[in-house]
Amino acid sequence: MSLPAPEVLQATILNTLATSAQGEIVDSREIVINGEKMSSAEQQAVVKGVLDSLWSKEMVEYSQITTTTYSLTPEGEGIAKDGSQEYRVWSVLKGKGEPTSIPDVQKLVGADIAKVGQAQGFKNKLIAKEGAGLVRLVEGVEDTTATQLRVVLEKGDHEAAIIKELQKRKLITPKKHIHYSVKKGPHFATEVKQLETDLTADMIANGSWKDASFKQYNFAAAGQPTEGGALHPLLKVREEFRQIFFDMGFTEMPTNRFVESAFWNFDAMFVPQQHPAREMQDTFYVASPAKSARPDEEYYERVKKTHEVGGYGSIGYRAPFSREESEKLLLRTHTTAVSTDMLYQIANQPGGFKPAKMFSIDRVFRNETADATHLAEFHQVEGVVADYDITLGDLIGFMKAFYEKTGNHKLRFKPAYNPYTEPSMEVFSWHEGLQKWIEIANSGVFRPEMLEPMGLPKGVRVLGWGMSLERPTMIKYAIQDIRTLVGHKTDLAQVKVRPAVRLEKGDE
Ligand code: PHE
Repeated sequence: MSLPAPEVLQATILNTLATSAQGEIVDSREIVINGEKMSSAEQQAVVKGVLDSLWSKEMVEYSQITTTTYSLTPEGEGIAKDGSQEYRVWSVLKGKGEPTSIPDVQKLVGADIAKVGQAQGFKNKLIAKEGAGLVRLVEGVEDTTATQLRVVLEKGDHEAAIIKELQKRKLITPKKHIHYSVKKGPHFATEVKQLETDLTADMIANGSWKDASFKQYNFAAAGQPTEGGALHPLLKVREEFRQIFFDMGFTEMPTNRFVESAFWNFDAMFVPQQHPAREMQDTFYVASPAKSARPDEEYYERVKKTHEVGGYGSIGYRAPFSREESEKLLLRTHTTAVSTDMLYQIANQPGGFKPAKMFSIDRVFRNETADATHLAEFHQVEGVVADYDITLGDLIGFMKAFYEKTGNHKLRFKPAYNPYTEPSMEVFSWHEGLQKWIEIANSGVFRPEMLEPMGLPKGVRVLGWGMSLERPTMIKYAIQDIRTLVGHKTDLAQVKVRPAVRLEKGDE
């Protein structure tokens, strides 16, 4: 089989229409090019292309015809060649009084054929049991199935009832064929005139527009797909969270710095200098510059003292506190470092402390081995509320209101531990799809050892909660491996086609 060149095919179609008595091609499979009939599906696809092009110039009209032919399955072929199973079983048997044992029948025709042939043979009353063996019930047998299949093999078709039966027995399979019947159109000609697509200034000036034929507009044609930028799934989900925070009256914190000092990331938060999270296996330290700028000296002294000996009702860690450790630079391990700096700023702002609700969604870094659910960086979604006399109940209330808007309606809170919050809670949400409780956030009431050295008035409490942005994004977009969401394994085409999500629809 060879594919025709479209120009040759076009000329053949037009000439056939011009010369045929009825001006018609009844079946496009009858078109002959270089002595070959265009009967295959691939050839008909080229025919359709040419017909569409001629149709757009109104030179032809055509309609599609769908026909079905049938071919034999391997089992059908076997029967057409050697006879049906029942016929083959019948033919190895002898008459009454001379039974053939079943193992012998199996040996003669094969186990599979013996099985089907026996069943069909009993049903059609061709054979019967005699003792432990089988005998013929009738003298001559006409093998109708085989005869019918031979007809299908030759003609590709048979009477409807027979086709239905053979198909039910899985001896034949249908195959659809698409071809066309073609007629002359209103602008039929044997030569294809080049159609103008645009009326140009030149054509008006030289008068050639008068004789020109113009191509029709195809208003049904699909437009060119637009090439635009696309937001990464993380940014789409981030925007959803931002709007929820804004709706709840939160302001966004300036988290646009990845490098922090150990002072803001740990010390100011009352994380002991001996805490294991500070070790190099967990935190990325920055080699250069070697030291951070110093915080306000009086504040620094208050923080140092609280660590070493306590204060504000605390006995402190009673462990050495080193300036060197404090001035180390690192890639922030949580955005809570920025929240801490912000709390210090609102404690010391002109006019003094005012209640505040703040949030941030930005990157943090942890020295983790990458696997399907971890990378060495991720985004934290964090909310912080500072006000007089607020309680753990308010924290639970805020989180309920917040997660309600993200479609998480069933929450559970479990006591947990953070060096900088007391009490602390892990938050779990019931996942309908997974039918289990999944951990969604970490939260707590910041410790007085962290807040009071900042100069926040007594009685001011600060609540906070934090979660990853990657986890809800992976759930929303059904992404199994975080490495295909962020990093070099990300499929950019996927980034383009993934739709925006609405969190309030939940995580199902
Ligand atoms: N910093 C915490 C974390 O890394 C999140 C958190 C923020 C916890 C605020 C309590 C209060 O998971």
